[in-house]
Amino acid sequence: MTHKLEHVTFFNGHKMPIVGLGTWQSPNGEVGQAVDAALEAGYRHIDTAYAYGNEAEIGQTLKKWFDSGRLKREDVFIVTKLPFNGNRAESVEKYLKKSLEALQLEYVDLYLIHHPVGHLDVDGSVFPRDQDGKLLIDMNTDHISLWKKCCTKKNVWQLFPLASSLSSARRIVQLSPMSDPVVVDIAQRHGKTPAQVLLRHLMQHRIVVIPKSVKPERIQQNFDVFDFELTPEDMEKLDTLDMGPKGRMFGDSIGPERLRHPEYPFKERY
Ligand SMILES: NC(=O)c1ccc[n+]([C@@H]2O[C@H](COP(=O)([O-])OP(=O)(O)OC[C@H]3O[C@@H](n4cnc5c(N)ncnc54)[C@H](OP(=O)(O)O)[C@@H]3O)[C@@H](O)[C@H]2O)c1
Repeated sequence: MTHKLEHVTFFNGHKMPIVGLGTWQSPNGEVGQAVDAALEAGYRHIDTAYAYGNEAEIGQTLKKWFDSGRLKREDVFIVTKLPFNGNRAESVEKYLKKSLEALQLEYVDLYLIHHPVGHLDVDGSVFPRDQDGKLLIDMNTDHISLWKKCCTKKNVWQLFPLASSLSSARRIVQLSPMSDPVVVDIAQRHGKTPAQVLLRHLMQHRIVVIPKSVKPERIQQNFDVFDFELTPEDMEKLDTLDMGPKGRMFGDSIGPERLRHPEYPFKERY
């Protein structure tokens, strides 16, 4: 069943599709097909980042769609991000150009600062480390100058809703909201999957969702979320599952050195 793709609207009137395809951890060799499956399913929003290392393959798929005439550039909303090692005003243009070149685009629709904690730009690595394996943090990042250079739009929330996991060696919190009995129960009542319920929950809060999958059937499933509505009771029950800080996947997982950064944001409630 095809349903109209919903959008959220920026202050300046530009519209962003409320469902997009996430591509973090979508490996080269698979990400191009994932983007292909997403565009076939009706997605018109792709979320990527320089740091994901897969922009070139995404660019090849986009070019194929544009060259065939099945899609015009203005039909699709592309997000990419300034890498951690580019968090200084003079690096913005350099990294934006690298992303545009890889994506084979003349512009992106949204350029985000990937993370407020900047890394040193020593060897081109997004996660540069010293001989002891410690992350090389740039303690002098200045967000005012960065934001001025990126012209980033305000008031947009994007969430990764299904809670992916990395290896426990990287100490990222393992979450499993899809098997939570409350979610499973609501899904059964609506004849939907737990993933669809979690996506719908955020969408009904007008939060943009960017579920990642490389499996065509899941990509399709994650887009089939416009034909049902959660009740106020469902929404309330799902709201109470908020785990607060314990539900945050990142914390110091990438490197405890980041906690010392003056602009490390996750000590505060949000
Ligand atoms: N701004 C940032 O700093 C930041 C940070 C993290 C992520 N992101 C963006 O947000 C996107 C989403 O976050 P995420 O990738 O961490 O997690 P996610 O989309 O919440 O979850 C992805 C995981 O769920 C699985 N999955 C997807 N659809 C499913 C379904 N219908 N049923 C069961 N399992 C399903 C995927 O496996 P399969 O691929 O095997 O299907 C993958 O293991 C990222 O890809 C990235 O674009 C941004």
